[in-house]
Amino acid sequence: MVKQNNFPIGIFDSGVGGTSIWKEINALLPLESTIYLSDSKNAPYGNKTKESIIDLSIKNTEFLLNQNCKLIVVACNTATTNAIKVLREKYKVPFIGIEPAIKPAALQTKTNTIGILATKGTLNSELFEKTSNTINKKIIRKEIIGKGLVELIENGKLNSDEMTNLLSSYIIPLIKQNADCLVLGCTHYPYLIPQIRKIVGNKIQIIDSGEAVAKQTKSILEKNNLINSKAENVFHNFFINQDKKVLEMLITKTDNKFVKITEKDF
Ligand code: DGL
Repeated sequence: MVKQNNFPIGIFDSGVGGTSIWKEINALLPLESTIYLSDSKNAPYGNKTKESIIDLSIKNTEFLLNQNCKLIVVACNTATTNAIKVLREKYKVPFIGIEPAIKPAALQTKTNTIGILATKGTLNSELFEKTSNTINKKIIRKEIIGKGLVELIENGKLNSDEMTNLLSSYIIPLIKQNADCLVLGCTHYPYLIPQIRKIVGNKIQIIDSGEAVAKQTKSILEKNNLINSKAENVFHNFFINQDKKVLEMLITKTDNKFVKITEKDF
């Protein structure tokens, strides 16, 4: 049998946002090789139908499986909440998904009010509804669709006035409504933390799921005896089906010397 331990971990997102998850995985599992797929041509997924999100997730998974990935991380809340069930039924490889961290937020809030910033596709999904129903009924959930945020990030406008104005319009009302926790329910949003802090200072606790996803990836690799323990031939291949400029900006060479970014139509 071919030994799979040195095969790469596959990671996909609708765009460059899932690199926030890649960074957590790489920090926790530095000996693991990775293949990252940025489907920027089709971003944002958040406004698409469930059927289209499933089709795109299948396309991304097939690409990664053709590159011998031993495990797949769906580094996208929208794809996880709409498609991971189908992916798990269709393929044998283990899948790790990401969902808005509303459970930890519900445990940490002191005002019993939490804000959840995510895409329309995530907030309207059955999986999100199911998870929401498991948290304490006393907790008030203020759900906000982060309309336009993913597009600005994909276009490299992280620090623009447009971004500040849009973010302010989503976050300031939350503070007025007494929310003390903000759940970032999209993997693009951790890149907005400095901008959010500029707007609201430390008035709100920001919660995202990146670290938890990395820990879960490690645990599933261990359970399946798939951990790579040799520091040999480690690689990190990034594929993007649009201009790679923004991806390069987020994954600079200083992050990891084994990084290679390729523009490719898929
Ligand atoms: N990073 C994706 C997520 O976590 C972005 C969604 C989108 O493309 O709209 O939901």
